[in-house]
Amino acid sequence: MPREYPCIKVPKFHGEKAIILANKLKIVNKELEIQRNENFIYIPLLRQPLKNELDAIKEQIPDSEISTYIFPVRKKRVTTLVEPLEDTLPPHLLASLPRAIDFVGDIAIIEIPPELDAYKNVIGEAILRVHKNVQTVLAKAGAVSGTYRIREFNLIAGQPKTYTIHKEHGCRYYIDLAKAYFSPRLSYEHNRVASLVKDGETVIDLFAGVGPFSILIAKTHEHVKVYAVDANPHAVKFLKKNVRLNRVEGKVHPILGDAQQVVKEGLFGVADRVIMNLPEKAIEFLEGACEAIKSSGGIVHFYSFLKASDSLENVTLRFINAVKGSGREVEKILFSRFVRATAPYEWQVVLDAKIR
Ligand SMILES: C[S@@+](CC[C@H](N)C(=O)[O-])C[C@H]1O[C@@H](n2cnc3c(N)ncnc32)[C@H](O)[C@@H]1O
Repeated sequence: MPREYPCIKVPKFHGEKAIILANKLKIVNKELEIQRNENFIYIPLLRQPLKNELDAIKEQIPDSEISTYIFPVRKKRVTTLVEPLEDTLPPHLLASLPRAIDFVGDIAIIEIPPELDAYKNVIGEAILRVHKNVQTVLAKAGAVSGTYRIREFNLIAGQPKTYTIHKEHGCRYYIDLAKAYFSPRLSYEHNRVASLVKDGETVIDLFAGVGPFSILIAKTHEHVKVYAVDANPHAVKFLKKNVRLNRVEGKVHPILGDAQQVVKEGLFGVADRVIMNLPEKAIEFLEGACEAIKSSGGIVHFYSFLKASDSLENVTLRFINAVKGSGREVEKILFSRFVRATAPYEWQVVLDAKIR
């Protein structure tokens, strides 16, 4: 029987942020279904938050409140592909079924291991059955590669398309996965960086893609100027559409071109903050980033790949030396973390650094 439980009540716009935070605090009651109405999201809690938890919630989402709400018990969902496929696949192959499915808009993306290749269409159809919002299932057909950081896909079920609209943190993005980079696995990172920006800042998103950092920053801050640079004409075409879709014209300025060149030609010393999300090559663009930072100093969000044979300390040292080589200095490493695994024994990492 549905009954009243304690909850966090937040305006819809902050819903995703509140869910992430409540999960981090381990206070979400996962037996119950999150509720939404036109204006608010209600996140069911296991108990009343403690004082320190309450402070954390209030600090990150000032317009949230602790309330009570009537929650129905969550229906049991099929969370793995094993259940729908156990009668179709030979038992010894069930263990090879992919556990991770990425969802970009109404497209599901999976990696099919070689031993399951003969069953890829059956797996695709199972995903369509289990995830009712999915219209298309794509299998990865190679690694992310090239300057534009895109990969090839094979259609394994549903509508033949790579184009969709994806929602993230209250923003919407037109994306064509075959033409421009996008990963839903960077969702937390997009929000983390956006929430560090202060009103009044000038930000340069040097490798902006379709705009998930730039647009969220503009959407969540009243007075910001964001220069969003990308070398891929398709990415910039979608970026421009996304600027209009999210109504951040005048705040986000899309620029097509090479990051280093664009800085040299007009963004010298303008930035309070530079985002460098091109992990395999960001170090080569540090000179441009350092030139773009205001003479009074600023912050760089620097991304890199890290292999098991390397360490975060080494990445940090290489970064500090490269900044020195560009005539600036790292005043402080403010933060660092492993963002996600990108391949076996390889991770994407981030450093936030104050540059003077
Ligand atoms: C890993 S993607 C990141 C996209 C976006 N920041 C995101 O989080 O989705 C890197 C982007 O850098 C762009 N890029 C690669 N080389 C570039 C360069 N020299 N100048 C500007 N953009 C470049 C690619 O086209 C790609 O869109």
